[in-house]
Amino acid sequence: YGTPRRSSAAVPRKLPLAFALDIDGVLLRGPDVLPSAMSAIRILEGNNPYKTKIPYILLTNGGGMSEEARVEKLSKQLGCNLDISQYIQAHTVMKQFVCKYKNKHVLVLGGKRDVLRHLAEDYGFRYVHTTLDVLAWNPAVWPFHQLTEPENATTRRTEFSRTPIAAIFVFHDPRNWALDVQVLCDVIQSGGIIGGPYINLKDHKPVDLIFCNPDLLWRSDFPNSRLGQGAFKEAFQGVFKALTGNEYPYVQLGKPTKVTYDYAKAVLEQLGGGAKKTNSIDKPPRMYMIGDNPESDIAGANAAGWNSILVKTGVWDPERGPPTHPPTHIADDVKAAVLWAIENVQ
Ligand code: G3P
Ligand code: MG
Repeated sequence: YGTPRRSSAAVPRKLPLAFALDIDGVLLRGPDVLPSAMSAIRILEGNNPYKTKIPYILLTNGGGMSEEARVEKLSKQLGCNLDISQYIQAHTVMKQFVCKYKNKHVLVLGGKRDVLRHLAEDYGFRYVHTTLDVLAWNPAVWPFHQLTEPENATTRRTEFSRTPIAAIFVFHDPRNWALDVQVLCDVIQSGGIIGGPYINLKDHKPVDLIFCNPDLLWRSDFPNSRLGQGAFKEAFQGVFKALTGNEYPYVQLGKPTKVTYDYAKAVLEQLGGGAKKTNSIDKPPRMYMIGDNPESDIAGANAAGWNSILVKTGVWDPERGPPTHPPTHIADDVKAAVLWAIENVQ
């Protein structure tokens, strides 16, 4: 680990450090756990020269299942006992919209079949529809996809000609971009009533559109990065602009947005990390974001005034030039990143 810079007498009661760890490209690559991930977690859990637990959260633009389910899966993969309070995924912050839309019809995109419908209902949304429901209502909406039996079994019968959609939430990566782009264009151009007459969008945009992950690319277990939810957004906006002459206004959440980093800071402060002083003796902890994507992890951390450590195990490829957003430090992997921060704690 390297020799701690202080004599044992000066070891602080608490290391003034707190971490937000990205997942894809830092801890995991698709289903595979990266080699240094488990030891990095063990170091944060107390296996370090200071013998002290260091507050950390997992902050991902991923998602697609409930926080409970993902925390259980990650704990098994990483060999630790994560608490749900340590986990923030892309759509966690969508909860803030429940009070505004809970009694309105909303369309939730992404994820497997209707997993995210149930999650949106668990969040508190009451009238949640999917694009598979739309196709089950009228197969002519998109004649190039026939619902499979398993898909059909998850649909809910809805008369969309009398169901005004107030908002569209893209919770996770859509599985059928063609169907979802078609339905997005239908809902928005018809002011919420699919199949209804197109409205004049110049002065009236009744349907709200919210994305929670701007990643154009992300690192899975393929040798090159994969298209993310940000790429779906570009595909939709490209089609919509070709149809109407303009892109459609939307709300963007997820890293690198301020909303997501503010939320992460508040969560870390609850866990005893973050910038808030936890007591009169310890210095306020320094926040570190460890990520693989300069456009999301590093850009967001830099804008939030955190320290940022870029690792070489994900989206950013050192062979292709310097990162678009300069980190505080560049490390080979997540373990090297954690050790560097500990060895450089002031
Ligand atoms: O869909 C997940 C991907 O966009 C990136 O996830 O963990 O690298 O923020 P993560
Ligand atoms: Mg990542």
